[in-house]
Amino acid sequence: MLMCIPIPCCTGSHSLLVFGTLIIGDTPFPEFSVVLMLDDTQLCYYDSNLKNLTYRQVNSESECISQEVANHIFSDVYSRMKDRALYSKHQFNLTHGLHTQQTAHGCELLDKNIPGAFRSLDSFNGLDTAQWEFNMAQNTLQTEGLWSTMLSHMERKTSELLYTNVYGPLCIKALRNCLHMWKKYVMRKVKPRVRLLQKTLPDSTGVKVTCLATGFYPRHINLTLLRDGQPVPDHHITGGELLPNGDDTYQMRKSLHVSTEELQQHHYTCTAEHLSLGNKLDLELGNSQNSHVSCMHLLPTVSHKTE
Ligand SMILES: *[C@@H]1O[C@H](CO)[C@@H](O)[C@H](O)[C@H]1NC(C)=O
Ligand SMILES: *[C@@H]1O[C@H](CO)[C@@H](O)[C@H](O)[C@H]1NC(C)=O
Repeated sequence: MLMCIPIPCCTGSHSLLVFGTLIIGDTPFPEFSVVLMLDDTQLCYYDSNLKNLTYRQVNSESECISQEVANHIFSDVYSRMKDRALYSKHQFNLTHGLHTQQTAHGCELLDKNIPGAFRSLDSFNGLDTAQWEFNMAQNTLQTEGLWSTMLSHMERKTSELLYTNVYGPLCIKALRNCLHMWKKYVMRKVKPRVRLLQKTLPDSTGVKVTCLATGFYPRHINLTLLRDGQPVPDHHITGGELLPNGDDTYQMRKSLHVSTEELQQHHYTCTAEHLSLGNKLDLELGNSQNSHVSCMHLLPTVSHKTE
C-alpha cells in the first residue's frame, strides 16, 4: 500500500501532488480523502464528508487553490477512482469486503521554471494497477501497470487531450501559484544540529561512533563519517536513512562500529553539508572514552526559525 512517486531531488525543482484514498465497503472513515502536497509539505486536506478544503495554515494567503477549483478537481478524482476501483473489483471477481483504491498524481516544475512530467500512479488493494507519465514538452503518454494495456486507442487519445489541455496546464498553474504563496515555507532553510557521539557497547566489543544531524530543512543533506580524513565506505556504515521528525524537519544518523584499538589509532570526524550552512561543518571526536555517551561538539547556535 506504499506508493512512491519520486519527489524532485534538487532545490531547483518542485512538485504538486494529490494523494487520494478511496475505500469501498463498510467503513467508519470517509469514502474518499485526499491530501495535497507541495514538495514534502502537506498543504491541505479534503474528504467526501467535509466536502471542502482545509488548509493547514488558516489565512487567506495560503489558499493557493480555491475551494471552487478544488471541489471541481477532487470530485473528478473521486469519480475516476471509483470507476477504477469498481473495474478492479470486477476484474478480480470480488463481491464483498473492504477494498482500497489509492492514487498519487501531479506535476513538477524543473529548474528554471520548466514544466516536467505529469505522473499518475494507481493501486488497488496495494497492487499497482496503472502508472502514467505524460511528457508535457512532447505531448506523449506512457502507461504501465496491470490494466494499462487494456486502454483502447480511443481512451489513450482522450487521455492525451485531457492531459495536454486540462490537467497539465491546470496543475502547473496551481503549482506556480502555491509555490508563490508558500514560498517562505517551502523554501525555508533550517540548520541541522549536528553531533558526533561515541557510545561504549555494553559487551565491550568496542565503540559505536555516531554522527547525528537533526532538525534540518530541506531534506537534502550530505553527512559523512571520516576516518583519518577519508570517508568510511558505505557498507561499513549503519543508518543513513532520512527520517521525518514530525515537525516538518528531518534527521539522519550514520554509525560505525569500531574496536577500542581502532578508536585510539584513528581519527574520526564527521562532516555535514546542508543548504542552510555556509561552509560544511566539521566535527571531531575527542578522547573521553570513559563516559557512556560523550557529546563532543554541539552547534552553539541553533535556529528553528525560518529565515
Ligand atoms: C473471474 O470469474 C470468471 C468467470 O467465473 C473467470 O473466468 C475469471 O478467470 C475470474 N477471474 C479471476 C481473476 O479470478
Ligand atoms: C552533496 O554532495 C553532492 C556531490 O558532491 C553535491 O552535488 C550536493 O550539492 C551536496 N548536497 C548538499 C546539500 O550540500
